[in-house]
Amino acid sequence: MNAKEFINSSMRCPKCLKKLETNENYVKCIGCGEKYLFEKGVLVICPDDKYVSSFSLEWERNRFTQVDSKGYVCGYDGAKDSKDIFNKKTLLTSEECFSSIILDAGCGVGRFAEIVQPSAELLVCIDLSRASYLCRELLPQENVLVIKGDLENIPLVDGAVDISYSIGVLHHAKDPRKAFSEVIRVTKSGGIFSGWVYAHNKWAEKDLVLKIKNIVSKIDPSVLYELCELAPEVKRALRSFFKKVPAISGSKNDKECILDTFDWWSCQYRKHYDNNEVHKLLTELGCIEIGWGTFPVSFKCKKK
Ligand SMILES: C[S@@+](CC[C@H](N)C(=O)[O-])C[C@H]1O[C@@H](n2cnc3c(N)ncnc32)[C@H](O)[C@@H]1O
Ligand SMILES: [Zn+2]
Repeated sequence: MNAKEFINSSMRCPKCLKKLETNENYVKCIGCGEKYLFEKGVLVICPDDKYVSSFSLEWERNRFTQVDSKGYVCGYDGAKDSKDIFNKKTLLTSEECFSSIILDAGCGVGRFAEIVQPSAELLVCIDLSRASYLCRELLPQENVLVIKGDLENIPLVDGAVDISYSIGVLHHAKDPRKAFSEVIRVTKSGGIFSGWVYAHNKWAEKDLVLKIKNIVSKIDPSVLYELCELAPEVKRALRSFFKKVPAISGSKNDKECILDTFDWWSCQYRKHYDNNEVHKLLTELGCIEIGWGTFPVSFKCKKK
């Protein structure tokens, strides 16, 4: 199935839930008549960044920082590059991805999408931030459809995709349960859903840290980014006294350290889970055969 056929058969209007139809430069709802434009090859369902504007900024400054084809070397112990992280966090095999319609839920700049694209029949990438445009530039191939849209109201019909994965995204949604339920809804019955969400972190979830984070995340993102640019040097200086500096990313790749430190402090929403909580959520939302990866909390399951 190509992208045009997919839009006509498997997309729905987020406003009235009726089918969408493609035209040359736009897509139109057959129910309410709403038009959604293609902009720089991206189908824009949500022009507004809503609560993810800090992600737009971080990705515009880091479009290639974690992209394997642009020379990414992972700065964290236990992983080599994005392909290695993808395998460990989704547990998906290339056989499973082969000739499938796959959803990358929260694609960012497309670091994981570029790994899946060669084997997918069609890869549908969704992100609410302006990173969606960067993902399209990285992946101009015909078997990729990039949508700027909201995972809490996915513009796809039920069971539209064979496989869905979401890496480091659902814990950032305003309503994570809704985002989980939407990704599962658009996955076909018997299809695979896998991904990774933040594990509980005693330090990050301390009342005082949450209060500070609440204030810090309100700082103008470009000012906060400049402060985060100091992170690698500050970490090196403090490392002489402390083993770990919890407020700063542990990545040994300086660009990644700045990116992840900013990501961590600037995001508007962040939730932490353990296996039991994810198991309960997945079961309640109709998933079975739940398995776990080595990165907490990474999971792979089947939709009933
Ligand atoms: C930490 S980034 C991860 C991006 C990518 N999966 C990766 O690992 O590089 C989280 C992404 O989730 C996106 N995001 C957060 N909430 C979203 C929502 N409700 N709908 C769509 N995207 C969302 C952000 O825009 C951001 O690009
Ligand atoms: Zn409509």
